[in-house]
Amino acid sequence: MRSVLVANPKGGAGKTTLATNLAGYFANAGQRVSLCDLDRQQSALRWMAFRDATLAPVGGYYAGAQMLFSLPQDVDWAVLDAPAGLQGYQLNNYLRAVDRVLIPIVPSVFDMAASEDFLNTLRQEMRGRPGGIGIAAMRVDPRTRAAAMLESFLKHFDIPIVAYLRNAQSYVNVAAAGKTIFDPPRSRYQREKESWNSLLRWLES
Ligand SMILES: Nc1ncnc2c1ncn2[C@@H]1O[C@H](COP(=O)(O)OP(=O)(O)OP(=O)(O)O)[C@@H](O)[C@H]1O
Ligand SMILES: [Mg+2]
Repeated sequence: MRSVLVANPKGGAGKTTLATNLAGYFANAGQRVSLCDLDRQQSALRWMAFRDATLAPVGGYYAGAQMLFSLPQDVDWAVLDAPAGLQGYQLNNYLRAVDRVLIPIVPSVFDMAASEDFLNTLRQEMRGRPGGIGIAAMRVDPRTRAAAMLESFLKHFDIPIVAYLRNAQSYVNVAAAGKTIFDPPRSRYQREKESWNSLLRWLES
């Protein structure tokens, strides 16, 4: 079994969007996937409740109250959707359990500033686990000034950007229907899906 924690202390960075779509990707690839909702707001579980039974199944549960987090059994992938403001003991608790950490960051001065301490902590805690951390640049096109600003900010941390996911209403629409961009029909959301390729390669490597 493999696992990924999706985390960023900043609210609204795109954690649940990444976590649900990742879960949908694995499910549609025929893998058994569990979405561990660590957030008291339980947005991921709400999304699951909307999900139609005819779609590729995504299991999941609320795991935010566990004192000592342990990964779910009998799945191929565990995707952990963290709450905003995750730090300290709880953060370490999850870092101990997972293989990878995926961090969504929106390239705004506010979001980058709010993520700085978190990135430093993570780099420290994940040392000795090369390739363990990846950034998903959210709501941005590569080759824009915003992307360049994010890249220059991240140079200090030596953490790679594993995907650029542009701002797209598709993410909002699929979420409202308990779906992901990876659910059928296959011909839809081609451009969005392509932007996930590098992220998926990093995760599966
Ligand atoms: N690439 C994107 N394009 C357009 N909208 C997006 C994108 N990513 C996320 N959103 C939207 O931004 C909002 C916040 O995203 P999301 O809920 O995933 O963030 P979060 O980090 O989980 O927030 P919280 O900290 O509250 O848990 C949602 O309405 C979501 O649909
Ligand atoms: Mg969320």
